[in-house]
Parts: sequence; C-alpha cells; structure tokens
Amino acid sequence: MLQNSSELCYLEMSKTKLCVFLGCFLLSSALVGAQSPITHPDEVSALRTIKRSLTDPNKNLTSWNRGDPCTSNWTGVLCFHTTLDDGYLHVRELQLLSMNLSGTLSPALGRLSRLLILDFMWNKIRGSIPKEIGNITTLELLLLNGNQLTGSLPDELGYLPNLNRIQIDENNISGPMPTSFSNLKNAKHFHMNNNSISGQIPPELSKLPNLVHFLLDNNNLSGYLPQELAQMPNLAIIQLDNNNFDGASIPRSFGNIPTLLKLSLRNCNLQGSIPDLSRIPNLHYLDLSSNKLGGPIPANKLSENITTIDLSNNNFTGSIPINFSSLPHLQNLLLANNSLNGSISSSLWQNRALNAIESLTLDLENNLLVNISGSFDLPSNVTLWLKGNPVCSNGSLVQFCKSQIENETRISTTTNSTIVECKPQSCPYEYSPTSLLDCFCAEPLLVGFRLKSPSFSDFIPYKKMFEGYLTQGLSLSVYQLHMYSFAWQEGPRLGMYLKLYPIYDNTTNSHLFNPSEVQRIKSIFTGWRIPLDGIFGPYELINFTLSDVYKDEFSSSLSASISKGTLIGIILGTFAGVVMLSAIISLILFTRHLRGYHSISKQRQASRSLLKIDGVKSFTYGELALATNNFDVFTQIGQGGYGKVYRGTLANGTIVAVKRAQQGSLQGEKEFLTEIQLLSRLHHRNLVSLVGYCDEEGEQMLVYEYMSNGTLRDHLSGKPLSSRNPK
Ligand SMILES: *[C@@H]1O[C@H](CO)[C@@H](O)[C@H](O)[C@H]1NC(C)=O
Ligand SMILES: *[C@@H]1O[C@H](CO)[C@@H](O)[C@H](O)[C@H]1NC(C)=O
Ligand SMILES: *[C@@H]1O[C@H](CO)[C@@H](O)[C@H](O)[C@H]1NC(C)=O
Ligand SMILES: *[C@@H]1O[C@H](CO)[C@@H](O)[C@H](O)[C@H]1NC(C)=O
Ligand SMILES: *[C@@H]1O[C@H](CO)[C@@H](O)[C@H](O)[C@H]1NC(C)=O
Ligand SMILES: *[C@@H]1O[C@H](CO)[C@@H](O)[C@H](O)[C@H]1NC(C)=O
Ligand SMILES: *[C@@H]1O[C@H](CO)[C@@H](O)[C@H](O)[C@H]1NC(C)=O
Ligand SMILES: *[C@@H]1O[C@H](CO)[C@@H](O)[C@H](O)[C@H]1NC(C)=O
Ligand SMILES: *[C@@H]1O[C@H](CO)[C@@H](O)[C@H](O)[C@H]1NC(C)=O
Ligand SMILES: *[C@@H]1O[C@H](CO)[C@@H](O)[C@H](O)[C@H]1NC(C)=O
Ligand SMILES: *[C@@H]1O[C@H](CO)[C@@H](O)[C@H](O)[C@H]1NC(C)=O
Ligand SMILES: *[C@@H]1O[C@H](CO)[C@@H](O)[C@H](O)[C@H]1NC(C)=O
Repeated sequence: MLQNSSELCYLEMSKTKLCVFLGCFLLSSALVGAQSPITHPDEVSALRTIKRSLTDPNKNLTSWNRGDPCTSNWTGVLCFHTTLDDGYLHVRELQLLSMNLSGTLSPALGRLSRLLILDFMWNKIRGSIPKEIGNITTLELLLLNGNQLTGSLPDELGYLPNLNRIQIDENNISGPMPTSFSNLKNAKHFHMNNNSISGQIPPELSKLPNLVHFLLDNNNLSGYLPQELAQMPNLAIIQLDNNNFDGASIPRSFGNIPTLLKLSLRNCNLQGSIPDLSRIPNLHYLDLSSNKLGGPIPANKLSENITTIDLSNNNFTGSIPINFSSLPHLQNLLLANNSLNGSISSSLWQNRALNAIESLTLDLENNLLVNISGSFDLPSNVTLWLKGNPVCSNGSLVQFCKSQIENETRISTTTNSTIVECKPQSCPYEYSPTSLLDCFCAEPLLVGFRLKSPSFSDFIPYKKMFEGYLTQGLSLSVYQLHMYSFAWQEGPRLGMYLKLYPIYDNTTNSHLFNPSEVQRIKSIFTGWRIPLDGIFGPYELINFTLSDVYKDEFSSSLSASISKGTLIGIILGTFAGVVMLSAIISLILFTRHLRGYHSISKQRQASRSLLKIDGVKSFTYGELALATNNFDVFTQIGQGGYGKVYRGTLANGTIVAVKRAQQGSLQGEKEFLTEIQLLSRLHHRNLVSLVGYCDEEGEQMLVYEYMSNGTLRDHLSGKPLSSRNPK
C-alpha cells in the first residue's frame, strides 16, 4: 500500500522533473534549462521521420537538425505557445509552402496528434497521401495542392471530425472520391480540381451540412450528376468542368439550391435541356458551354446579379430570351455555336447604362440569327460578334461580322505601378504608389495570390471592391495595398501579385512592418482567415516572399525577444510553478512519511553541488528524454539487471549511449559520484569514454560515447546484458 503510493509519487516526480524539497528547488531553479518545456518526444521523432522522407534541395529544413522543434525555431514548425494537458509542447501547424521539396509524405505525419494545419502546397512531393493523416483528429486544414501526388484518396480522411478544408488540387490523385467523405460534417471546401479522380460522385455527399465550395473540375469523373447534391444547405459553387458524365442530364434539383452562386459544368458531356435556374436568387455565374445540351433556353429571368452566361458550343434552339436584356451586371453573354434563330433585340445593349469601367461582350457567332430589331448603335463598351449568322448578309453590319480574335475575351491584363515622381536616391526601399503621403518610402511584403473560382468575367468593375475586401480581411488600410499586377489564367482563375506596405506613421516614421505584424499578416493568409466573400470565391496563397530586409529584421528581433521577454517569462513561470508544486508535493510526502525516499533525496541534494568534473557534462532529464525519443523502446539497445541502455542523439548531433539505472538499482549518491569520477579519468583506447551524466531526482544516468560494436556492451556490462541487438 505504502509502497504503491510511493511509487506513484516517485514516477510522477521524475516525469515532471520537480524537486521535492525546498532546499533542492532553489538549486534546480538555477538550472532553468531543465525546467523549460519541450516538444512531445513522439512528435520530435515523427518530425525527424517526416524530414527523412523529404528531399530538400534548397536546404530550407537544415534547422530541423538541431535542438527542439518548438523551442529551437524549426522552419515551418509552429507550436502551441504553452504546454498542453500532458505537460509537453505540441506542433500546431506544419507550414512548408513553396520550398521546392520533393520526396514523399511520411506516415509519421499521423503522429502529430494535435496538428491543426498541414501545409505542403506548391512543392514537388510524390507518392500517395498517407492514410495515417486520418489519425490527426484535430486537423482543420489539409493543404497538399500543387504537388505530384498520386494514388487514391484514403477513406480514413473522411473521419476527420474537424476538417474544414481539403485542398489537393493540381496533383495526379486517382481513384474515386471516398463515400466516407460524407462524414466530414465541418468541411466547407473540397478543392480537388486538376487530378485524375474517377467514378461516380457519391450522392451521400448531400449529407454535408457546411460544404460551400465543390471544385472538382479537370478530373475523370463519370456516371451521373446526383440530384441529391442540391440538398447541401450551404453550397455556393459547383465547378465540374472537363469531366465526362456520359450523356447524363443536369438535375432539375439544381434549380432549387438557394445558396448557389456559380454553376460551371463546361465540357462535361451533358445532354438534355437546361433546368429552370430562375429561382436561384444570387446566381452570379453560369457556364454550361461545350456540352450536348439542346432545346430552347428557358425564358425565365435569371438573378439580377448574374455576370456571366456561357451556353456556347451546344445545340440550343429557339430565340434569344428577351429576359437576357435586363440584367444589370451582365459582362459576358456567350451563345456562339448553337442553333438559335429569330432576331436579335437591340434591348440587349440599349438597356444597359454602362459606366466607364464596365463592359459587355455578346458573342452570338455561328447561329441562325436573321436580323437585328432596333438600333445598331452600340454603346462604346459593348462588343458584339455575329460572324456565321444569316444576319451578316446585311452589308451594313460588317463591323460585327469580322472574325473574332480567339483569345480576346480571356486577355491578360497587367497594371503597372504609377510612376511616382520622387527622388529615387533618397529611398533605399520603394515608394508606395498608394500611400496617402507623397513619396512614402517603405519596404513592401510581396504576396502571390489567386482567386480560384471568381464569379465574374471582367475584374475591372470589381477591383476596388476586392481591394477593400482584402485589406479589411487583413485589418490593413486600403492605402497599404498595391495590386502590382493581375492576369487571368486557365480555369478561369485570377492570379495577382500584391504588395503590402506598412502604414505611414508620423511618430515612428517606420519604413518596415514589425515582425509580429509580418507574422500576423502571413498567418491570415496561411490559415485562410480572410472571411469568404461570395463573388470573389475561394482564394489561394501562391507565395509570401520576405525581402532580405525583413529576413534580417526577423532573426535579430526573434533572438532578442527570446533572450529577454520569453526567457524571463519561462523563468518566472517555472519558478512559480516549482514553488507551488514542490510545496504541495512535499506536503503530501511528509504526511505520508515516505522516509526512504526522503533520506535518499536529502543525501543526493547534499552531494549534488560537489559534482563538477572536467570534461563531463551534467545533463537534464529533459535533454536525455529528447535525445532518446523519451526512452522509446526502439532506441533501446541493451538491458541488464541495473536498467536499460538507449541509443540517443544529443542536440548537437552527437550519438551517445545512455545507461539509465532502474529504480531498484539506484546507487547511493557517493557510489554514483565515485563511479563518474572514475570513469572520467579512464580514456583508454579500448574503453568508451564518459560524456556526461544525469543526476536528477529518482534518475541516475550515464552518457557514453556511442560505439556500435561489442566494445560498448562489454564495457557497460558490469552485469551481463541481454543479447538484444541494436537495429
Ligand atoms: C528556401 O531556401 C531558398 C534558398 O536558400 C530561399 O531562397 C527561400 O527563400 C527559402 N524558402 C523559404 C520558404 O524559406
Ligand atoms: C528546386 O530544386 C531543383 C533540384 O531538385 C533545382 O534544380 C531547382 O533549381 C530548384 N528550384 C528553385 C526555385 O529553387
Ligand atoms: C492510425 O491509423 C492507422 C491506420 O489508419 C490505424 O491502424 C491506427 O490504429 C491509428 N492509430 C491511432 C493511434 O489512432
Ligand atoms: C496521372 O495518373 C493517371 C492514372 O494513374 C495516369 O494515367 C496519367 O498518365 C497521370 N498523368 C500525369 C500527368 O502524370
Ligand atoms: C444580388 O441581388 C440582390 C437583389 O437584386 C441584392 O439584394 C444583393 O445584394 C445582390 N448580391 C450581390 C452579392 O450583389
Ligand atoms: C441539334 O438539334 C436539332 C433539333 O433538335 C437536331 O435536328 C440536330 O440534329 C441537332 N444537332 C446536333 C449536332 O446534335
Ligand atoms: C468604357 O468606355 C469609356 C468611355 O467611352 C472608356 O474610357 C473605358 O475605357 C471603357 N471601359 C472599358 C472597360 O472598356
Ligand atoms: C492571341 O494569341 C496569339 C498567339 O497566342 C497572340 O499572338 C495574339 O497576340 C493574341 N491576341 C490577343 C488580342 O491577345
Ligand atoms: C512597370 O514599369 C517599369 C518602368 O516603366 C518597367 O520596367 C516594368 O517592366 C513594368 N512592369 C510591368 C509588370 O509591366
Ligand atoms: C509569387 O507569385 C507571383 C504571382 O503568381 C509571381 O509573379 C512571383 O514571381 C512569385 N514570386 C516568387 C518568389 O516565386
Ligand atoms: C502626426 O499626425 C497626427 C494626426 O495624423 C498629427 O496630429 C500630428 O501633428 C502629426 N505629428 C507630426 C510630428 O507630424
Ligand atoms: C529562426 O529561423 C530562421 C529561418 O531558419 C532564421 O533565419 C532565424 O535566424 C532563426 N532565429 C533564431 C532565433 O534562431
């Protein structure tokens, strides 16, 4: 009874590395290193394994060779700031965006058990997605887009209860979409476009209560389009272009999705007629082009908000619905290559009061249209294409009947910075073109950004709104953003290159963002914390580049803040914790009269201060736990009556053997000390030399230089070791 409770306390104490007696705690609090928190050993070993399976040509991960992930600033490893319930630090985010990494994803990723964000975007990772990722129940963002991943989607991912976003686009993932994905109750984003996903879209996905974006364009999907998808209560974008649905029709139910903003089913091998979409109140974008749809175009009026109607390359018959003429935000009406007949009403353009930044393109080529009813006078920002219609036999319309330059509607637009008239020699950075202050000289952050599925075709009318939306999401002033360039890309997606300038502050006159501000802005991008806005749709971060000025500022201020603020915090926190806990524990111990332990500890504490031996280092329990993956069974290389021997790697990379005495074999303090002194003097070539020792409460460990062959074992075994071999 007494024995049991003493063991319990004993174990507890060696785990928390607390000294029991107040006399001892004063000593130990001087050894702050022993008390500062460390990363959970299983996560440390997982990260090492993850790194081993990656190839890192730019050496971005060299920091992973030293120290502790959470306290030694490993690149891309972000941790919770405080220890969690188990007393360890844990990895919260793995941010390895755009590092030119190749190799594969290790199953050890599954051991980062508290991870929220897993980000390997824009690398060259091969192999398949490890099913073990399905073990990370805390995972919120799974970001693997822009790699060369193959294999199929593991069923296990479908059981991640907190997954908000699964982003695997632009890989070569094959196989079907697992039905288990219908369990992802918190998922808002399925971004899986540009892969080789095949088979039927599972109708069970209708159970997803939060899904907003369903992007699966450019895959090998087949089968039918499940009408059940319409039951998703938050669905805003369905984008399935370039799949092959084998002559299926568009479900009528799609006309009953009240939250739908964008329906894009280009080149899907669909047949039949268009369902009535007029009841979708906020439909912005409709692309059903390049299918085998037919029949008349429904005449019911579409949402006032519509910007794009693309029904080209089908076989629609009948006339152009008159209701297409009173759509105030329409930018593109593309009806080319159908069998439309009748006349073209000039109300299509006459009813539009375009302002200087709006435009309207009407592409009606290759139909059976016979005449224009009304005025031929087009407002300046309206473009009309009529080639290949009977109406072109009317010679007065030749201007509209020329051949269209194919790529004109998808033309890239690039803006350049306004050349600010400032003295270049007096600014070591750049003049901000958008600052309210003339010639404000500052160093911008450079951000590659992309709208993946915007709900417009012409960005110009929405540019100002976008700048407001983005800067608000970043909590910046709109004058801090300069959109350096933007260009339409295949998809259509809208790529842009942004510059963010610090705000002009006449008190500090700062030309740079401070590091915490850089960190804050970056984490908004990498954590997808800019709130969604319907019309701009999902976005993605392409890159976030820090110029050398910021890299320098970063490293100096990081080390400064660690050496002052953080360290003081750690010391004070630990100190307070030690005082309280040791008081409590001593109270418990005293009341239980654990005399045996009491006397050993007292003895050890007395001799500890004498223990200063040249060339022999005193290690903390934490350091050796880290070196041996918390005394993991896989690092164990021997066992004897006195305890176990482990192979470990010290923070500086040295490989060592750690001999750890087990409870029954603890020597008296004097004997332990004598052994250390004796061993330290032995530097014979046939003997392994002593590197250090650890003498913390309830622990006696000797650290030797590591030798893989028999020499080590012979030397270590005062008592014979079992024949268990190192791997
Ligand atoms: C990775 O390393 C390269 C070369 O040292 C460097 O240019 C780049 O900025 C690094 N990338 C990141 C994301 O740290
Ligand atoms: C990426 O790594 C490859 C080698 O694997 C190298 O040839 C290439 O220059 C690197 N690219 C960048 C942008 O660093
Ligand atoms: C991790 O995942 C594997 C395979 O999916 C499973 O067999 C194992 O039980 C999981 N481990 C934990 C700790 O959940
Ligand atoms: C993608 O994977 C599919 C099936 O595994 C294969 O047929 C195809 O060639 C791959 N495509 C690329 C670009 O690697
Ligand atoms: C869509 O149209 C409705 C009614 O015309 C309007 O109230 C709403 O603000 C519009 N939404 C957007 C995003 O433009
Ligand atoms: C287009 O539809 C018309 C009338 O329904 C039909 O006669 C014609 O064959 C169709 N053309 C194509 C290419 O499907
Ligand atoms: C629209 O017309 C105005 C004046 O007619 C012109 O200045 C403007 O550039 C045009 N806008 C577009 C987007 O074509
Ligand atoms: C269209 O594309 C061709 C070739 O890609 C290019 O030469 C031409 O300038 C483009 N036209 C326009 C108007 O962008
Ligand atoms: C912007 O203008 C400068 C100077 O006129 C020029 O050198 C640069 O190439 C331009 N950049 C873009 C993206 O057009
Ligand atoms: C970042 O992305 C932008 C936009 O895609 C691109 O123009 C720029 O070259 C990229 N920068 C780096 C360092 O990759
Ligand atoms: C700084 O700006 C504030 C308000 O914008 C103004 O009141 C103050 O006088 C300015 N100080 C200097 C030194 O210009
Ligand atoms: C943190 O890591 C970065 C990137 O590896 C490095 O530039 C910086 O100097 C490091 N800071 C500290 C305090 O170690």
